[in-house]
Amino acid sequence: MSRIAYVNGHYVRHAEACIHIEDRGYQFADGVYEVCGVRGGKLMDETLHLERLQRSLRELRMEMPMPLAALKHILRETLRRNHVLNGMVYCQVTRGVAPRDHPFPKNARPSLVVTAKRLNEARIAAAVAHGVEVVTMPDQRWARRDIKSIALLPNILAKQSAREAGAYEAWLVDAEGFVTEGSSTNAWIVDEEGRLVTRPEGPDILHGITRHVILQAARSEGIEVVERPFTPQEAKSAREAFISASSAIIIPVIRIDGQAVGNASPGLVALRLREAYGRFGELS
Ligand SMILES: Cc1ncc(COP(=O)(O)O)c(C=O)c1O
Repeated sequence: MSRIAYVNGHYVRHAEACIHIEDRGYQFADGVYEVCGVRGGKLMDETLHLERLQRSLRELRMEMPMPLAALKHILRETLRRNHVLNGMVYCQVTRGVAPRDHPFPKNARPSLVVTAKRLNEARIAAAVAHGVEVVTMPDQRWARRDIKSIALLPNILAKQSAREAGAYEAWLVDAEGFVTEGSSTNAWIVDEEGRLVTRPEGPDILHGITRHVILQAARSEGIEVVERPFTPQEAKSAREAFISASSAIIIPVIRIDGQAVGNASPGLVALRLREAYGRFGELS
């Protein structure tokens, strides 16, 4: 079965999908994206993802490519055409096609690409069951990480360094020595007193949708939550650590820079929150 992509008004074979060479996404990374999880054929937390998409666009003074209802329809139609039941839908909006020049073009229309793919469920299940390792490294990104920009060069360099070090994820550390987040995940610890700790929202991190729902789930489970920055040192001596993202929800972290966290096995709070997520995430 061939995959299908939506590209600027057309559903095309994924292998043959293409965009113009002067699309500003291609030339300047002048665009934003969203990744929404799919469970049982339904979109997870779609409302929150689409709100964040609109916020990212507003912050960059870009327009929605179409009304929200039409975009929602395309997300579902792309899932349907790809027979995705458990997986994710990817949606990218750029400032459009125009002769290469830095200022915003006057007449360009935003470009929209939507793709869908299945999850590698076995890989995620293994990561959840065994936990993963992270390594820390300097955060070299720009100052507006709250915008879900397609400009991901520092993120991919960090992820590649992590993989070359045999780790699953990179935890990025700011100039003051505090963890911001992972290269494609938010970062969490459970401190000595059993409090759930994660960095507060602001321009230093992506405002993860999974992060948002985990905070709700934790509060309703009676877990004390503290939104504050933490250092790699504190994380290494924490009871637990984990990462969050729409693709896998929560993955326990068992080692940081080679040092065991707790007893180097997935933490109870992480697993409990993963389970509770199902009751809080909205499926539509
Ligand atoms: C840098 C970064 N932080 C955090 C996340 C997690 O965000 P979400 O929970 O919305 O998937 C992502 C996901 O792509 C990311 O790229």
